[in-house]
Amino acid sequence: AAGTPGGIERTFIAVKLDGVQRGLVSEIIGRFERKGYKLVAIKSVVPSRPIAEAHYGDLRARPFFKGLVDYMTSGRAPVIAMVWEGPDVIRQGRRIIGATNPMDAQPGSIRGDFTLTVGRNIIHGSDSFESATFEIGLWFDPEEVYNWRFTNEEWVV
Ligand code: TYD
Repeated sequence: AAGTPGGIERTFIAVKLDGVQRGLVSEIIGRFERKGYKLVAIKSVVPSRPIAEAHYGDLRARPFFKGLVDYMTSGRAPVIAMVWEGPDVIRQGRRIIGATNPMDAQPGSIRGDFTLTVGRNIIHGSDSFESATFEIGLWFDPEEVYNWRFTNEEWVV
C-alpha cells in the first residue's frame, strides 16, 4: 500500500516558479509520467509565507533561507505542487531531479539538463519518507489527493 517505505510510496514534487516561468512544467511532468509514476494530486499555488517557511523549516538557520522564502512567496509565478505515487518514488524522484547544486547534477537529470545555479534549480522533491509525509500534508488537503486506477500497474510496474 502507499506509505510503505521502499514499496509503493507517495512523494511531494513541486515545479518552482523559475521552472514555471521557463516553460518547463510539461517537460518535468512528462519525465515522471513516462517513467511510469502516477499523478495523484496537482495544483497551481502561490504559497503563503507560513507554508513556505514550514516547507523549508529544516533550513531556517541557513543564510539563504529568507531569500528562498521571499522568492517562493513572491507571486512572480505560481508553484506547480504535485503528489506522485509508485514504487520507490521518493528515492527515484530525487534521482530524476538530480543533485541540489546544478554543477553536481548528472546530465540526464532534470537539474543536470536544465539548470545552472542552486538558487534557481526549478524543482523540489521530498528527500525522505518523513519529509514526503510532512510536505504532502502541508501543501494538500486529503480530498485533493485522489487515488485512481492506473493501467501502468498492468504494464510497467
Ligand atoms: P535543500 O533542501 O538543501 O536541497 P533540495 O532542494 O535538493 O532538497 O535546499 C532547498 C533549496 O534551497 C534548494 O533547492 C535551493 C535553495 N538553496 C540555495 O539557494 N542555496 C544553497 O546553498 C542551498 C544548499 C540551497
